[in-house]
Amino acid sequence: MNQQLRLFDIYDDSPKSTNIKLDTLRGISRAKRVDNVRPFLRYPGSKYNAAKFIEPFWANIEFDEYREPFLGGGAIFFKMPKSNYSILNDIDEELINCYRVVQDPVMVQRLKSDVSSVMPTREWFETLKHSKPVDEYARALRYFMINRTAYSGIMNLPNWGFHPIKSVQPDKWPDRLQSAHDKLVDNVELTNTHFRDIITHKSSRRVWMFVDPPYYAADQKRAYKMSFNVEDHLELNELLKNTKHMFCLTYDNCPQIKELYSWANIYELEWMYHTANSNVTTRKIGKELIITNYDL
Ligand SMILES: C[S@@+](CC[C@H](N)C(=O)[O-])C[C@H]1O[C@@H](n2cnc3c(N)ncnc32)[C@H](O)[C@@H]1O
Repeated sequence: MNQQLRLFDIYDDSPKSTNIKLDTLRGISRAKRVDNVRPFLRYPGSKYNAAKFIEPFWANIEFDEYREPFLGGGAIFFKMPKSNYSILNDIDEELINCYRVVQDPVMVQRLKSDVSSVMPTREWFETLKHSKPVDEYARALRYFMINRTAYSGIMNLPNWGFHPIKSVQPDKWPDRLQSAHDKLVDNVELTNTHFRDIITHKSSRRVWMFVDPPYYAADQKRAYKMSFNVEDHLELNELLKNTKHMFCLTYDNCPQIKELYSWANIYELEWMYHTANSNVTTRKIGKELIITNYDL
């Protein structure tokens, strides 16, 4: 079932063609059910800009357990109201270690204090990049500081990308860490395993999963330590076909994925957004698929 939603029509006031199917969604999306905590990490492929378009897919169903098998920067977890229980997972060990430190009430205070006085420079960045701390706290500190100052938050072979004015400055970092901690501290399980363990894990609760794997066709090879090959995409499709949990899956809009998920509900999504990097602000169109196994 393929439905086309030009979702920027809903949110932009500029006159554009309207689609009758959107009337339903428009009503739904106004019933705001958001928490609006900002992710504490910058992350390639973050759903931060797309979160308001994904909102109707969680705001109109009932569930008491939330799962995210591909956590990354966790834009949707931080944006949505907190569920009774959450399982947040990523295969990237350093990423999950950083989340665990932010979740810990004692270590997060130390982290806030250590990062607030940092004065990032290119030389500082290079030294940090080549450091090899071993304990979990020092690894998280290194991860967080590189993430905040690397180009586009890319942690795989990171390059310096901090701007002395346009980037979020170190004195603002502690607030980001504290609000992330407040959301992570209770009833959140952080795991570092393969996505299949999270999807197949049974529960007596009603589960909703937000599933955001690496893209199929768009090149993200440089972005993550662990990317996907065709077998991973096929395995994910099989697991989702067989799961009893509700899921909302996002992908790049390409014919292979539409074909693979022809058994599910597919929504085509387009939206306008701006990216600002160093000196240039660019207007871009996001094009994604949202795929579900439940009706809105
Ligand atoms: C598109 S990103 C998720 C972005 C996230 N939704 C956000 O808003 O920031 C995909 C994530 O999948 C993770 N990943 C890649 N292969 C994986 C696997 N086999 N199991 C679990 N996670 C995996 C990557 O480490 C990466 O963090």
